[in-house]
Amino acid sequence: MSVATPWRAVIRGWGGYVPERVVTNDELARDMDTSDDWIRSRTGIRQRHVAAPGEFTSDLAVAAARPALARAGLTAADVDLIVCATSTPDHTFPATATAVQRKLGCPVGIAFDLQAVCAGFPYALTVADQFLRLGQARTALVIGAETFSRLMDWSDRGTSVLFGDGAGALVLAAEPATAEPAPRGVLASHLAADGRHYDDLYVDGGPSTTGTTGHLRMNGQEVYRHAVAALAASVTEVLRRAGLTLDEVAWIAPHQANKRILDAVAKRLGVAAERVLVTVDRHANTSAASIPLALDLAAADGRLRRGDLVVATAMGGGFTWGAVALRW
Ligand code: UT7
Repeated sequence: MSVATPWRAVIRGWGGYVPERVVTNDELARDMDTSDDWIRSRTGIRQRHVAAPGEFTSDLAVAAARPALARAGLTAADVDLIVCATSTPDHTFPATATAVQRKLGCPVGIAFDLQAVCAGFPYALTVADQFLRLGQARTALVIGAETFSRLMDWSDRGTSVLFGDGAGALVLAAEPATAEPAPRGVLASHLAADGRHYDDLYVDGGPSTTGTTGHLRMNGQEVYRHAVAALAASVTEVLRRAGLTLDEVAWIAPHQANKRILDAVAKRLGVAAERVLVTVDRHANTSAASIPLALDLAAADGRLRRGDLVVATAMGGGFTWGAVALRW
């Protein structure tokens, strides 16, 4: 699956950012017919962070990228590739990645957005890794950044309680493939999409259809059903491609949509709940940002250590899904 090249990509730094403003379930229940009890029991969500007026996806991305670069011991001047996974760009174009490039002061390089909704981070990691392996870039910022609060129809209690805003970033750097005995960074990936489910999770606006931004619409039960099967199958497939077993995996880092989905995936895989990173309780669903935010928290509190084998997996609109096996 991975072609041998003279380069490989190693994770050098990580960072995360959530907006200051926290919105609790009780706060939502003041304005809509819902309750903390319903939201917690159906989703595990206790609260979400919401971007301030004038705070854009690129601002969240930059706030996550800065600590990631600092941890890597690098500066903006070193970055020659920015891949920003987002479905909530600052503008229809140009890419939010170029806004990040400008705000950080990165030199001329490659910068683009990648749109695979909640599966954006596995897609972005895979794409960035391949640029680095092929020698087309040396230092990559791989970012998941979203302001999903701006896509909510606040009169729809079935969707508006589920999402939040945030951003996470990894710094990947190319190094000679022989530098260390144990490969680190991305070991294997599995990506998939099935456009037959286009209408099950989508935004009912866009530049080419309505000319408006639109609001998120979802067939929740179909998403749920597909998510459990797809995530578990993708983890199994990526491990097969990497030549690894689940026993060797320290952490499963799933996209954070719903605690019940996380529990069902862990059960299907036969993985203990303690090995699954969970942030949905405090962040809700931050789409492409949820995996790097979960990695950031686990690395910051010492659970995730250098050398740990991690499988990140996600599923989102399209449907798109996938998994990446990586060594931290
Ligand atoms: O990245 C992927 C993003 N999407 C997802 O992860 C979503 C996956 N799906 C889910 O997590 C679940 O389907 C939901 C959490 C969205 C919904 O849970 P559910 O158990 O499938 O509930 P439901 O849609 O069948 O609704 C059950 C009831 C309905 O009332 P009636 O018709 O039984 O009277 C809904 O109107 O719950 C009602 N309901 C609510 N009640 C209070 C729906 N939303 C709410 C709410 N508060 N926020």
